[in-house]
Amino acid sequence: MKFNTKTIHGGQHDVDPAYGSVMPPIYQTTTYSQTTPGGHKGFEYSRSGNPTRAALERAFASIENGEYGLAFGSGLAAIDAVLKLLKPGDEVISTNDLYGGSYRLFTRIYENFGIKFHFIGMGNVANIEEYINDKTRLIWLETPTNPMMNIIDIKASATIANRHDILLAVDNTFATPYLQQPLDLGADIVMHSATKYLGGHSDVVMGALVVRDKKLAERLYFIQNASGAVCGPQDSFLMLRGLKTLHVRMQRHCENGRKIAEYLISNPKIEKVYWPGFENHPNHEIAKSQMNDFGGMISFVTKGNNYDEAIRIVENLKIFTLAESLGGVESLSGHPASMTHATIPKKEREKAGVVDSLIRLSVGIEDVDDLIEDLKQAIGS
Ligand SMILES: Cc1ncc(COP(=O)(O)O)c(C=O)c1O
Repeated sequence: MKFNTKTIHGGQHDVDPAYGSVMPPIYQTTTYSQTTPGGHKGFEYSRSGNPTRAALERAFASIENGEYGLAFGSGLAAIDAVLKLLKPGDEVISTNDLYGGSYRLFTRIYENFGIKFHFIGMGNVANIEEYINDKTRLIWLETPTNPMMNIIDIKASATIANRHDILLAVDNTFATPYLQQPLDLGADIVMHSATKYLGGHSDVVMGALVVRDKKLAERLYFIQNASGAVCGPQDSFLMLRGLKTLHVRMQRHCENGRKIAEYLISNPKIEKVYWPGFENHPNHEIAKSQMNDFGGMISFVTKGNNYDEAIRIVENLKIFTLAESLGGVESLSGHPASMTHATIPKKEREKAGVVDSLIRLSVGIEDVDDLIEDLKQAIGS
């Protein structure tokens, strides 16, 4: 199947042997009757497995070209499961410009358990090699990064990870498998905040992992069941519904994203626009080679780098809603320094470019002319 067919049918054969319903039923049940101890039809208890969640997990695996999918109660719960593969003393090399909540999980929870993290710039992946030692177990990367839209070469990172027998995990939340498929580029684990583009309608909080290796999948399924951070059947159903339009939504997000990036760069009040589709983006060539298009996430700073002006702009936007999150059909704006990235110390975040005047846009699928008009009235040009 091609991608646009997989979003609708991937892993969905025979979802309702009872009545042939086209959508999988919502199995709103905690447990399953047994004829004799162990005599069940594949499901025992809904933390361990639920038919609606299982249908979704097959869909996740299918769209990422993986073998095994796992669904969690949030993106952070999915990341948490990956970190539970580690032991005290192990080391992780991570992107320095990553989602603030991932940074908080790494530094405020897992550092206490004796895991060491190195946060480094990965624009040039050769940097990774410098931090590898015999304790390194995991390379964690996001690309494009949140919110600076840096691009990291997944294939080159996978070559390094393989050479040293280290797991490579890619947070594919911003790109989605419509734009990039990290397992095909050599990653071991793909992670999603499915809350964002995969669900696409700002109505479900969920996380996903997809892998190809059976042993790795077994370890992760064990953690998923043992730690129990699963999602419920209603949310699994909503996610399955959202996935079916991922490809058409992403096509429009990309079209609108391009037009808005071009509008912003032409506005004399704007100092800089971060969007990987620009030829002068530092890793544009890598973006072109590993992504099918450039997505709908854009960050920008106004001339003069003024905090109050950035706040005024996000307050004045009318169609772009000022809100945390991204990837839904509706356009959102955000002020990373005070919102999504407030958990990262100022000095640390400014090193990565998250200055006080940075504004992040999640461009939705509304009429792009309305979105540009909205930006014009808010920015004042
Ligand atoms: C890139 C990225 N990764 C992970 C997460 C965490 O996901 P969740 O909010 O679903 O726990 C987010 C949330 O904003 C994100 O943007």
